[in-house]
Amino acid sequence: MEIFRTAAEMQGFAEARRLRGQKISLVPTMGYFHEGHLNLMRVAKKAGDCVVVSIYVNPTQFGPTEDFEAYPRDFERDCRLAEQVGVDVIFNPDNREMYPDGYQTYVEVLETTKNLCGLSRPQHFRGVTTVCAKLFNIVKPHTAIFGKKDFQQYTTIRRMVSDLNMDLEIVGMEITREADGLAMSSRNVYLSTEERKSALSLNLSLTLAQKMYLDGERKSAPIIEKVREMLSASPFTRIDYINLCDARTIKDVDEIEGETLLALAVWVGKTRLIDNMVFNENS
Ligand code: PAJ
Repeated sequence: MEIFRTAAEMQGFAEARRLRGQKISLVPTMGYFHEGHLNLMRVAKKAGDCVVVSIYVNPTQFGPTEDFEAYPRDFERDCRLAEQVGVDVIFNPDNREMYPDGYQTYVEVLETTKNLCGLSRPQHFRGVTTVCAKLFNIVKPHTAIFGKKDFQQYTTIRRMVSDLNMDLEIVGMEITREADGLAMSSRNVYLSTEERKSALSLNLSLTLAQKMYLDGERKSAPIIEKVREMLSASPFTRIDYINLCDARTIKDVDEIEGETLLALAVWVGKTRLIDNMVFNENS
């Protein structure tokens, strides 16, 4: 497995592989791998001849009061895990490489970023789309794999790629969960034992919503109300949002009709967790 730290090295490698007719697949990450990340890499391996994983904790997507400094990092362990999955290249730039002095260009997707996490994290998606646009130009992938755990991110990246005619395919991967249902996240390490128990209420409330849907409920308000009740009853929780929205536009809906996203963001103690479920997928 090779490790590149500069855009020039990475671009040179990618160009050479492309000239040989190889397909490049990219998994963009901020590191501190769990099984969810590794599953994206396994899909990437099937999608291409050469798998590149970027590990970069991107400062422009963190707000001033967020956990950029504290974000968990373990580069050596990440490299070991990636190598075991058969990753070919780790791209691991530093901040000066990605945002050198004088940097002033950003990519913004206007509509899909307005709701949900865009409300509580105003500059977040601008940072995500900018760094992903840069990674696509540096790694030159044919395919990039994103997790649907961050559904709004996945939708927004697809929108950017389509709007800016970027020449790659975006593949979405289902959420990888712990055995007890908690969606895997690098931030789960922040949770105490008691908080972790309480965090199970996110997945449980999504399951409850799914049951209501299967029993025939289509109105958003009663579903959101039940989810709110269940989350509020759990200790240490503070709800950031519970929304039902159109999975492509990320605009709120009053009723579940086409592909509809039920998205949650909940503080459990000092940790903000997100989870979601999609109704009528691919409709
Ligand atoms: P990060 O949080 O490290 O996640 C990297 C990728 O792993 C994302 O596509 C995310 O959706 C996916 N992922 C995380 N947990 C998952 C789970 N439990 N199941 C399935 N997929 C999961 O998302 C980012 O980094 C950054 O915003 C990034 C896209 C790298 C830009 O900086």
